[in-house]
Amino acid sequence: MKCGKLVDVGRRSFLRGGLMTGAGVAAAAVAGTGAAPAHAQTSLARVQNPSTRLANLADLVVNEPLDITYPDEDSPGVLLKLGTPVQGGVGPDGDVVAFSVMCPHKGWLMSYNTADKTLNCPGHFSRFDCEAGGQQVWGHATQNLPQFQLRVDETGDIFAEGADELIYGRLSNVL
Ligand code: FES
Repeated sequence: MKCGKLVDVGRRSFLRGGLMTGAGVAAAAVAGTGAAPAHAQTSLARVQNPSTRLANLADLVVNEPLDITYPDEDSPGVLLKLGTPVQGGVGPDGDVVAFSVMCPHKGWLMSYNTADKTLNCPGHFSRFDCEAGGQQVWGHATQNLPQFQLRVDETGDIFAEGADELIYGRLSNVL
């Protein structure tokens, strides 16, 4: 019984509050000066990734890494022509990919192993498979390697236009 009354009082208070709020909004609208209503600044849900030319298809040799940076100069990466079609691969052979070379564990710079087409970390020895979208195959890291999304235009120019994981040390890939 006691609880029921409390609930009822609470409901009445809520409704009264709602009416007061509605009245306040109406009064504010009437008192308005006729100026255009202010709009709240909304933040973009997705960042705008830059489109950056990395190289031309003609610059690439199978299994020879080419140093790049993306999405800015402080983010080193590697561009690779792997020789066989792979996940995320672009170009006529579907074999051109690009990755960050900053280890997702603690940011050490990694090197490419031509024998098994992995990127290898000298810090704590994590390894990432470049033929499998940068999948971690061994080590301390708890994240796969960021793979850059690529596009090839009609002249063979290769552009990076995004990344599928967060680059080491960043709260947002685009700073
Ligand atoms: Fe690469 Fe630790 S920094 S495994």
